[in-house]
Amino acid sequence: MGTVALITSGKGGAGKTTITVNLGATLAQKGARVVLVDFNMGLRNLDIYLGMEDTCLFDLGDVLTGVCKVEKALVHDDRFGRLYMLPCPQFKEINGVTPQHVAGLFAVLKKNFDYILVDMPLGIGSPLENVAQAADLGIVVVTPDYVSLRNADTVDRKLESCGLQKRCFLINQVDLELLRTGNVPGIEQIARGMSIPMAGIVPYDENIHAGNNMGNPVVLASDSYIAKNFSSIALRVF
Ligand SMILES: Nc1ncnc2c1ncn2[C@@H]1O[C@H](COP(=O)(O)OP(=O)(O)OP(=O)(O)O)[C@@H](O)[C@H]1O
Ligand SMILES: [Mg+2]
Repeated sequence: MGTVALITSGKGGAGKTTITVNLGATLAQKGARVVLVDFNMGLRNLDIYLGMEDTCLFDLGDVLTGVCKVEKALVHDDRFGRLYMLPCPQFKEINGVTPQHVAGLFAVLKKNFDYILVDMPLGIGSPLENVAQAADLGIVVVTPDYVSLRNADTVDRKLESCGLQKRCFLINQVDLELLRTGNVPGIEQIARGMSIPMAGIVPYDENIHAGNNMGNPVVLASDSYIAKNFSSIALRVF
């Protein structure tokens, strides 16, 4: 049975989609069967980060409303072994999604995949509640700034209130020179501000940003320091 991990944050643009893509690709490079689920209904972007925007025919909305079976909506990224994506609708929101719908979807995916990584939209409303109730692990992405830190703790409490016991956080977009100025919260301060374990640090790196825009996840260069970093994070998270 596979593990469902949701990736969330308290602030938009913290790096949820970046972490989802690169962590998922890393696990697939190690031989695991991985599916990345885009839960940003109406505002999808996972497909762009994977360079697969032209390959989505069916989506999560079609699956949840019974238009097609989940297998039909999966898109394979063969650059990373058995990495698949389940896109979400680009222009429409899907109303009436319940925890039971989500649990049913995950039950099917768990039979066929080792890891199901869910890229969450921002917010602590019903999408987060629905997914958190059926997930095995919550990964909270935080960046070194006070707003991100405060909101990450709020999101973490929400996950806990949904019964999600296993949780960790990642610090993304770390700029060491800026940290040294002391004008932004440092690593220790962030760790003290969160009540869950830290699973790793991802630096701010232009190659990550460019890779996202080119549809070439940065871990494609598997001997780079960033790929090795994601590899260690995968070991600590799972
Ligand atoms: N470690 C990093 N180094 C450089 N750029 C990064 C890094 N992480 C994310 N980015 C860039 O920051 C922006 C936001 O990243 P991303 O889309 O992953 O965040 P998000 O949390 O998914 O955003 P949203 O809340 O809109 O879903 C993107 O332009 C991305 O390329
Ligand atoms: Mg995103």
